[in-house]
Amino acid sequence: MLNQYLYISTAPNLSREEVEAILGASARNNPERGITGLLLYNGRNFLQLLEGEESALVALMVRIGNDPRHTGVSVLGRKAISQRSCPGWAMKRVLIAESVAGRREVLERELPAGLDEETRGIILNFACLN
Ligand SMILES: Cc1cc2nc3c(=O)[nH]c(=O)nc-3n(C[C@H](O)[C@H](O)[C@H](O)COP(=O)(O)O)c2cc1C
Repeated sequence: MLNQYLYISTAPNLSREEVEAILGASARNNPERGITGLLLYNGRNFLQLLEGEESALVALMVRIGNDPRHTGVSVLGRKAISQRSCPGWAMKRVLIAESVAGRREVLERELPAGLDEETRGIILNFACLN
């Protein structure tokens, strides 16, 4: 059965290289574990959506929870899903536009169409924080 996790965490001042390294590990590991998802970083906090089989997600959440690059991992939601919102994405990097004014519009275009309304709303609100 497929599940989806949504969490936030805190990581002040990670460099672009460190974020790239996280995406690199995701691209390397997630396909063989059947994990897909998306990642946002606003310079202080991460928001990550992970989807896959429960056992693979639990194992990954343990690794992520022990990762010293961030703290305060806080799961916002966990639920069974009938199909993936991010099929084809080992880990989609969702960029947050500099201009607050245009952010919502840019994201509306960039977020996968298959996201449910509630999850989409949480991601949009996270991205619009300053
Ligand atoms: C915010 C955040 C998100 C992460 N997401 C993933 C992920 O989706 N997949 C993954 O394999 N590692 C992810 N990691 C990295 C893991 O914590 C861990 O460093 C990595 O899985 C080790 O992979 P390696 O053994 O191939 O070096 C993430 C780390 C952070 C801080």
